[in-house]
Amino acid sequence: MKALKIGNIKLKNRLFLAPMVEVTDLPYRVLCRRQGAAIAYTEMIYVDAILHENKKTLDMLRTSEEDKPIGIQVTGNNAGEFRKLSKLSLLRNFDLVDINCGCPSSRIVGNEAGSYLLKTPDKIGEMIKILKDSGLIVTAKIRLGFKNNNVMEVSKKINKAGADLLTIHARTAEQRSSEPADWKWISKVKNEIGIPVVGNGGIVDGKSAAVMLDIADGAMIAGAALGNPFVFREALRYLKTGKEKEVDYKEKIAAYLDYINLAKKYGLTDLARVKFLGGHFLRGFWGASKARWGLMGMKSVEDVVEFVGGIR
Ligand SMILES: Cc1cc2nc3c(=O)[nH]c(=O)nc-3n(C[C@H](O)[C@H](O)[C@H](O)COP(=O)(O)O)c2cc1C
Repeated sequence: MKALKIGNIKLKNRLFLAPMVEVTDLPYRVLCRRQGAAIAYTEMIYVDAILHENKKTLDMLRTSEEDKPIGIQVTGNNAGEFRKLSKLSLLRNFDLVDINCGCPSSRIVGNEAGSYLLKTPDKIGEMIKILKDSGLIVTAKIRLGFKNNNVMEVSKKINKAGADLLTIHARTAEQRSSEPADWKWISKVKNEIGIPVVGNGGIVDGKSAAVMLDIADGAMIAGAALGNPFVFREALRYLKTGKEKEVDYKEKIAAYLDYINLAKKYGLTDLARVKFLGGHFLRGFWGASKARWGLMGMKSVEDVVEFVGGIR
């Protein structure tokens, strides 16, 4: 398979770990990279929060040697903020900047950011140009539209503005994750624009990743990597051999403990997040729902480690 490049960044394969709020922190990204994810992003961060950095934002901005290549994902609603952002030296800790034009949360949309930007493609183009003019590698992650599908118009604007890559989550902002993503739009856009296109939405295993890679230049995985970083290892196995292995629950539990150890190493342990992630890792074995219930009652990360150690 030919290597994929984003600007001058050469990827080791075509599997992307998607940005996920309250999931893809530094330890989680490292966990997925160790299983084969070629690139990862911070969770979405509001540009305004970066400009007025507080402890929570600083934690989101943490990265490391093992965490490469890394994209910072941002959203916002005005060009002035992006101009200020483009001047920050901390952006140079990241290999690229991704603009989130897909978040459907009412708080973000209420601020005319995230998926709201799909209503104003010119604004997205302006934001891209500002960051490009500062010499940055810039990508955008979009949906098919806000309410109505305008993916072709938005994609062409993004291409013309000089973005280095476009990721398409093939649902509109109004569509729920239970509705099937419409991948035909990914190939339609791919046929019309020159920059690499990464497909996202509904990739759950090696087989679906392979189908996406027939359509697009890259395959981005979110939900299926939640509690299962091995989705990357198995997808790579499938791409190589046409087969993938069922992931044993014991491996998932071990990965959960690895996550906690990495979080400790980086000084990023957060009990609420540890419990939330545990709710995804502790699945697929007899007594799993009881274990998840037990986990929720834990009062410290040390208690979680002891409790989970007892399951194995
Ligand atoms: C818990 C969670 C958090 C998410 N946070 C973000 C985010 O910060 N930025 C973003 O662009 N998309 C975010 N998404 C959307 C995913 O990146 C992805 O586009 C979507 O889940 C579809 O991919 P999937 O079918 O592989 O889950 C999030 C999704 C989930 C499940």
